[in-house]
Amino acid sequence: MAELVVALDYPAMDAALATARLLRGAAHAAEDAGGRLWMKVGLELFTASGPEVVARLKDMGFPVFLDLKFHDIPNTVRGAVRSAVATGADMCNIHLSGGERMCRAAVEGLAEGAAARGYGVAPILLGVTVLTSVAPGELPGGADPSAEAARLAVCGREWGLSGVVCSGYEAEGIKRRCGRDFICLTPGIRPAARDGAGTGGDDQRRVMTPAEAVRAGSDYLVVGRPVTGAPGPDGPADAARRILAEMQGTGTREP
Ligand code: C5P
Repeated sequence: MAELVVALDYPAMDAALATARLLRGAAHAAEDAGGRLWMKVGLELFTASGPEVVARLKDMGFPVFLDLKFHDIPNTVRGAVRSAVATGADMCNIHLSGGERMCRAAVEGLAEGAAARGYGVAPILLGVTVLTSVAPGELPGGADPSAEAARLAVCGREWGLSGVVCSGYEAEGIKRRCGRDFICLTPGIRPAARDGAGTGGDDQRRVMTPAEAVRAGSDYLVVGRPVTGAPGPDGPADAARRILAEMQGTGTREP
């Protein structure tokens, strides 16, 4: 069963925690459906708040995806992944375009970080393929984003990663080539039901609805603005519940 990940893209910890609090009810709805509701801490929030926000979200009972997309020399990425594990995050990621040595160093950093914390099972480490904001024709040399994403995913599997960040358009092919257990996490999700928040694609380009991404085989769906930008005090919780319903095939598509 696919799980929903809410991107807490805020400039300060208080705002992020306030939204997380509003989403506690939706987390119960996700659990009733046999899944979990994740919180995602990305570059904006982590740069402002540091590791404390991860600890606070964990204290609230949420699994946390630390989305810092490391891309540097192998030794630096190895240490960065070790530090990401030390925050208590359940999932973190690197850019596959950093190459084999960088990715293998990240896998080592993950194991070292997990051993240092006494984890029996290491957090999930994913490789970013091609950002969902990249449209066909935008990659240097005219490469097709979906073909490039699939190529990078096969490399990621070989280099020891647990899965990839990819658009819904690539998930099915990646699962076919890399195996059903190879995780596909998909941003660029826009709900079919419209409520005024993040309902266009915004800066995203390879976009799918929640139901389409689930059908394509994505294991985790990342949604930010359609939840965080939903108007009214109940807006974020209502939006999250509607997206969960769409993921389960019980949502309705509005014209
Ligand atoms: O607001 P929206 O739903 O577009 O947010 C998507 C989130 O997923 C953002 O936090 C963005 O950084 C992240 N992301 C993405 N594309 C990727 C990896 C992460 O949009 N390939």
